Amino acid sequence: MPQVLTHHQLLEIAGEFGTPLYVYHAERITEQYQRLRAAFRETDATFFYACKALTNINVLRHIKSIGCNADCSSINEVKLALLAGFEPSKVLYTSNNIAFSEIEAAVSLGVHVNIDSLSNLRKFGERYGHSYPVGIRLRPNIMAGGNLKISTGHNKSKFGIPVEDIDQVLDIVKEKNLHIRTLHIHTGSEIKDVEVFAKGIEVLFNLVKHFPELEVIDLGGGFKVPYAPGEEGTDVELLGKSVKAEFEAIAKIYGRRLQVWFEPGKFLVSEAGYFLVQVNVLKQTGDTCFAGVNSGLNHLIRPMFYGSYHHIENISNASGVPEPYHVVGNICETDTFAEDRMIAEIREDDYLVFYNAGAYGFEMASNYNSRFKPAEVLVKDNKARLIRRRDTMEDILATQVVLED
Ligand code: LLP
Repeated sequence: MPQVLTHHQLLEIAGEFGTPLYVYHAERITEQYQRLRAAFRETDATFFYACKALTNINVLRHIKSIGCNADCSSINEVKLALLAGFEPSKVLYTSNNIAFSEIEAAVSLGVHVNIDSLSNLRKFGERYGHSYPVGIRLRPNIMAGGNLKISTGHNKSKFGIPVEDIDQVLDIVKEKNLHIRTLHIHTGSEIKDVEVFAKGIEVLFNLVKHFPELEVIDLGGGFKVPYAPGEEGTDVELLGKSVKAEFEAIAKIYGRRLQVWFEPGKFLVSEAGYFLVQVNVLKQTGDTCFAGVNSGLNHLIRPMFYGSYHHIENISNASGVPEPYHVVGNICETDTFAEDRMIAEIREDDYLVFYNAGAYGFEMASNYNSRFKPAEVLVKDNKARLIRRRDTMEDILATQVVLED
């Protein structure tokens, strides 16, 4: 049984630290990592946590402490990962549409870079030639992922170098004598179907022969976790078996053993996160009962942006009779977390919990309406500790330049 924080623990934490509040459970992250390790134990697999999902430095340090590497999507994330103590050799920077100066900065920090455009690949060749092993991010033209906004590998996607441009890639590699160490794809987020990874492997395997120095096939992230009750996530154990078989086949054909890299974000941190809010106002209009909470799309945008489902429970009255509620925020536009959701009877001031709030929750939060972002707490060894204080008015003004005229 996965480790969970109980209603009782969450209520205590809400009372101690206030709401809105993100709470992360370190042991649950560890558990997910161990599940991946076990599923891939017979393959030369390395996992790079896609830290865009949740970058609090204490979470990064925990992830480092359990032996996982880091995948970054900006130079600032690279800097955070290094600050958290990851060795540069354990840090991966998978870029998309970035200025070449960021690639130069990443190289000067000694991290591995996956390049996603022909122009940056050419510039890389001009600047570094064979001296710095590099990766190529390809677009495999595979449709995958939970919805179009988080689907990244299809044939209309902005991500990666389209695989049909491989001849141009090879010309640059040859002309600049590039040292290609990794081939990368990332087809999307919330990929349940193990077959999608097999398709990606097939696309890359067909290219292996062109890259004699290739060491790694990097399949990106995107493992699905269950969000709604009864929903199933990616069967990573099955995926482990199929990847093992496919990599053994390639070893036979080419006489080369390749490593496989993955970049899981949601899989590691989604279920470890809880978002706690309090009900400000109950409003009954016609058939609808709105439960207006002290949060909104400024704190958890996934439901409004992607139509994502987050399971919600009333932890102040768990044994109350379930009723249908529209759970809404306090932002000046429609910010509906859930419609006609059956939740144990809600009273004003009750605390609600949103599950699966570890990934892309706080990380996508903003100060819209000049509201404060939530605070963050990490529970580890049964101790709950503040890892980000709540904003103050000073924070809201901190980067503004007040003109004197
Ligand atoms: N690697 C690359 C290159 C990525 O772009 C991503 C996610 C990942 C790995 C990790 O994917 P994951 O394992 O977390 O599915 N904000 C959206 C998700 C955006 C994902 C962006 N890229 C959401 O809340 O669903």
